[in-house]
Amino acid sequence: MSDASSTPPFISLADVTKTWSSGSTALDRVSLTVAKGDFVSLIGPSGCGKSTLLRLLSGLSPLTSGRITVDGMMPDAAREIMSFIFQDATLLPWRTVLGNVELGLELERKSTREQRRAKCTDLLKLVGLADVANHYPRQLSGGMKMRVSIARALATRPKVLLMDEPFGALDEMTRDFLNEEVLRLRDNDQFTTFFVTHSVAEAVFLSTRIIVLRAKPGRIEREIPVPFPFPRTAALRSAPEYLALVGEVSAALRAVKALA
Ligand SMILES: Nc1ncnc2c1ncn2[C@@H]1O[C@H](COP(=O)(O)OP(=O)(O)O)[C@@H](O)[C@H]1O
Ligand SMILES: [Mg+2]
Repeated sequence: MSDASSTPPFISLADVTKTWSSGSTALDRVSLTVAKGDFVSLIGPSGCGKSTLLRLLSGLSPLTSGRITVDGMMPDAAREIMSFIFQDATLLPWRTVLGNVELGLELERKSTREQRRAKCTDLLKLVGLADVANHYPRQLSGGMKMRVSIARALATRPKVLLMDEPFGALDEMTRDFLNEEVLRLRDNDQFTTFFVTHSVAEAVFLSTRIIVLRAKPGRIEREIPVPFPFPRTAALRSAPEYLALVGEVSAALRAVKALA
């Protein structure tokens, strides 16, 4: 039997619970299935388990109970197909921009030096950093560093991108530009994304689905689908449907914060 309904989801979380050794529960029976190409934003009050959820998905931290599969694998085995992007761009200060972007591919050991160079040079063009390929991180603005971090994460062509408040430290205009860039890169590569943010506007602009979590313990409170078609452009930000949904998600977030 192989009808569509029996196809396993690309990513599945079933009754995922994470309890710390102190006995406090960060996530309580979280269940969620994600289709290939989905862009899932996680929003919720501080401490509701957003970062923990990404760490469990990435295989960096073990579950207490429940099950996670990513493309049919346990998170640990799926590490090769995932990339993580943090708020702090975590670039190596002694490497050039190009050298930083090449890092993931070097660790993979699947390509020659020339192949890496060609691929990463292309990626730097794609994120608008070709001119600074030989600069060092200290010479870059916060937004440029984040672009390097994104290019580095995408160099290995991950199927899954895990982003934990990547643009939280950037000014609003830089954040808007990078949001548009992420959409463009996604149109190119069709990666599946988990994206943690405190910005409702950003979540609505980028996502196919928004998961609202509540705290103590972390649970899924609501899921809000975002129906706007892709490709999306900056013009979406002034569309009445977009503004209405931002209002709806903001209200949902206020409601879970009131519970916290
Ligand atoms: N390594 C850890 N050991 C013990 N408790 C932790 C650890 N990491 C996070 N926590 C706790 O788990 C809960 C969820 O944290 P976190 O996932 O960082 O929340 P969020 O990212 O939504 O702000 C919080 O109560 C936090 O204090
Ligand atoms: Mg966090």
